[in-house]
Amino acid sequence: MSKTILCIGAGYVGGPTMAMIARKCPGYRVHVVDIDADRIRAWQSDQLPIYEPGLHEVVKSCLNRNLFFSTDIARGIEEADIIFVSVNTPTKTFGQGAGMAADLQYWEKTARQIKQHSRSDKIVVEKSTLPVRTAEAMERILHSGERTVHFEVLSNPEFLAEGTAIKDLENPDRVLIGGHSTDSGRRAVAELVSIYAHWISRERILTTNVWSSELSKLAANAFLAQRISSINSLSALCERTEADVTEVARAIGMDSRIGPKFLNASVGFGGSCFKKDILNLVYLCRHYGLTEVADYWEQVVRMNEYQEDRFVRQMIASMFNTVAGKRIAVFGFAFKADTGDTRESPAIRVCRSLIEERASLVVTDPEALDNARRDLADCAGKVTFDKDPYRAAEGAHAIAVMTDWSEYKKLDFQKIYDSMSKPAFLFDGRNCLDHQRLFQTGFNVYPIGRKPLSHL
Ligand code: UDX
Ligand code: ADP
Repeated sequence: MSKTILCIGAGYVGGPTMAMIARKCPGYRVHVVDIDADRIRAWQSDQLPIYEPGLHEVVKSCLNRNLFFSTDIARGIEEADIIFVSVNTPTKTFGQGAGMAADLQYWEKTARQIKQHSRSDKIVVEKSTLPVRTAEAMERILHSGERTVHFEVLSNPEFLAEGTAIKDLENPDRVLIGGHSTDSGRRAVAELVSIYAHWISRERILTTNVWSSELSKLAANAFLAQRISSINSLSALCERTEADVTEVARAIGMDSRIGPKFLNASVGFGGSCFKKDILNLVYLCRHYGLTEVADYWEQVVRMNEYQEDRFVRQMIASMFNTVAGKRIAVFGFAFKADTGDTRESPAIRVCRSLIEERASLVVTDPEALDNARRDLADCAGKVTFDKDPYRAAEGAHAIAVMTDWSEYKKLDFQKIYDSMSKPAFLFDGRNCLDHQRLFQTGFNVYPIGRKPLSHL
């Protein structure tokens, strides 16, 4: 074994990324540690802690060969040459910057642990998304006090999307590595480049200064989310004007300067990154006195909330202005298909609003029911959970599609319609079903950004 890589944080980013590095670089020993012993046990079992297509095979192919999971953080640090930091950096919920800034307590604790247990020089790689210039703070902590060991801090943000993590890791659009332009900085960058070069062509490995790399991650997520908010804002206008948002998206997406991706109008974007990263960007801009820039980006998040609220308003208005006492089947709780992750899922806000309106909910999802139960733990008695969509829809007045699971397209909607209360409503928050067919079956169909198909 030539070198040992350590990753601190075995979550959605750390786990899959390290599994891929271990698979592609058999000469490296890859060790992943976490404070959460249950999570570590799950990584070592057949029931991985996260659902991600293809992940199981990758982990299985190198587990206990050159990929190891443990809770021994101190030993991991001591033995490592390269340390990836992949702990969670959620939005702060308290004190200064609450609801906006990144909560860096886990990250800082990690920096202190690295300092405490290091006996030899190390490369420290920021994998978690962090505010710009965090590397500077990391360096200050690592190099505080007695300087017996040298740490070279690099930024290497992860661009994988959940549900396609393995594909994205195997064949990324680019890998971004930010480092200092000192001799030791350049050597560290070259070392990290050589790891990725095991399977990614050099042209797609981009090297920049640390701050550009940190900002690029926030900027990429802000741009992607902005596209969704832009098309969602137009979906509201389409619903008033009989324009069809799918046709509009297609028409503008064929302009090669705009491109077709990320133009699917929806009930809103979710996921652990978009909102958090934009708010982070907004906080940073405010910090530097750039009020107009901050306001500009903040509107992307506000538009998303508007879209979620608008969806609920539409449901209530079309169901004769009340959902009180009505059974509503929520199809999908994950923030997108092919993941069990529900962080910032639009389903959370939609479900809470419907519960406030005294609807009685049944949530169904193929992978995310455990997380959904946790997210709605305080709503006991007002929501039930059922893995089977047919049972969930039985007796329901309406179906609200929150996640674009491909299995929903294959359901027998005639059978579902027959089992529902009439008039039966279907609100497709993902525009993923065949609306015309559903209408012919008897449903009153409410898509996003398109004229409703109603029998009423
Ligand atoms: C995102 C970025 O894509 C990824 O590069 C980054 O590393 C992490 O954040 P992720 O949150 O996993 O990845 O999923 P993504 O596919 O980007 O979808 C985010 C949300 O936007 C989902 O809720 C999705 O349903 C929604 N979305 C996406 C739309 O509503 N419309 C679209 O056209 C695309
Ligand atoms: P992400 O989506 O960014 O990967 P996750 O929340 O899925 O975020 O994963 C972050 C992981 O980091 C969690 O499993 C958490 O237990 C772990 N973690 C947080 N703080 C520490 C720490 N000080 N040492 C080790 N692991 C940590």
